[in-house]
Amino acid sequence: MTRKKHTEPAVAERVEFDERAVAARELSTEKAWQASLRPKTFEEYIGQKEVMDNLRIAVTAAREKGRTLDHFLFAGPPGLGKTTLAHVIAEELGATLHISSGPAIDHFGRLASLLTSLAENDVLFIDEIHRLTPIVEENLYPAMEDFKVDTFIGEGPHAKAVTMQLPRFTLLGATTRMGMLSAPLRDRFGFHWQLRYYEQADMESIVRRSAGLLGLPIDERGVTEIARRSRGTPRIANRLLRRVRDFADVEHDGSINGVLAASALDRLAVDHVGLDTLDRAYLSVICERFDGGPVGIEAIAASLSEERGTLEEVVEPFLLQIGLIARSPRGRVATAAGFQHMGLVPPPKAPSGGSTGGQGRLF
Ligand SMILES: Nc1ncnc2c1ncn2[C@@H]1O[C@H](COP(=O)(O)OP(=O)(O)O)[C@@H](O)[C@H]1O
Ligand SMILES: [Mg+2]
Repeated sequence: MTRKKHTEPAVAERVEFDERAVAARELSTEKAWQASLRPKTFEEYIGQKEVMDNLRIAVTAAREKGRTLDHFLFAGPPGLGKTTLAHVIAEELGATLHISSGPAIDHFGRLASLLTSLAENDVLFIDEIHRLTPIVEENLYPAMEDFKVDTFIGEGPHAKAVTMQLPRFTLLGATTRMGMLSAPLRDRFGFHWQLRYYEQADMESIVRRSAGLLGLPIDERGVTEIARRSRGTPRIANRLLRRVRDFADVEHDGSINGVLAASALDRLAVDHVGLDTLDRAYLSVICERFDGGPVGIEAIAASLSEERGTLEEVVEPFLLQIGLIARSPRGRVATAAGFQHMGLVPPPKAPSGGSTGGQGRLF
């Protein structure tokens, strides 16, 4: 039996994905200012130490020896710095960066024109690379392996198939869904780097850095509060910082302290660990409607009128990471910590929780 300590609607009103203060995806209105906060060099890029140590060596070696950098794949939830890394790598190599994405390269012609526009040692970044069509993907293989592309000269019945030699280039791929990437594509990358949610100390450095760039006075408690509620995700930290700044302007002297940040974030419905209405609705469905689970993702998605992909990509990885849910062969279960977070008494069967380190398992 579970008992409520306070009333929370079993299913919160449907929250438009794009309106979430903690949406990890980039909102259409914030592209420009988020980009202005982007670190440009290895020096400025905070955290992800393991990935960065290796990348720094690979990039330095390529630059010093005049070699083309290997193709690399970056995986991880939205907002952790994959696109930023592509910019940093090109900058550090002194190379030209070309940016495209899986959905944008919707037929072979687009791929061919993209590839034939590259110069020696250029960097091509393909975001959401798991969304390439199989035909485009197959045509990418010879480009990655042998720097060749098959193309046609002329039109109609007189078209002639020719193989074009491409300059040596570096392909950087990014994906939020490692599991959706085909094995042949995955295998053609020299390395896969899994980006992790950032530690609290790194999140604090990111908030401090962004506040500095925005010319925003903020004290250490304000930094801690915003960092703690940003789900280990720099994009969210930057967004919450800007939202809190509005409160500071209207209700204070423009500067941010811990009390102001906490009260602003409470009012933005971002709780003390960074969960928002959708996360809490998700947890509430498992705990209350399905008695703690196990429950399949489809059933949860139907209860929330939310897309399964949204839940899998942005809600679940973080809840798994902080140990509020766990996965079992029969579906998702709420942990004891998950029940407690919702102010509920956990049933004896609830797993104990704690960090599962399980973020990778969803991809
Ligand atoms: N390591 C980092 N240090 C500081 N800021 C970062 C870092 N990674 C990302 N950011 C900030 O977060 C924002 C989102 O990063 P982005 O690279 O677009 O994420 P992704 O491509 O993984 O979705 C960037 O605009 C940048 O301001
Ligand atoms: Mg990106």
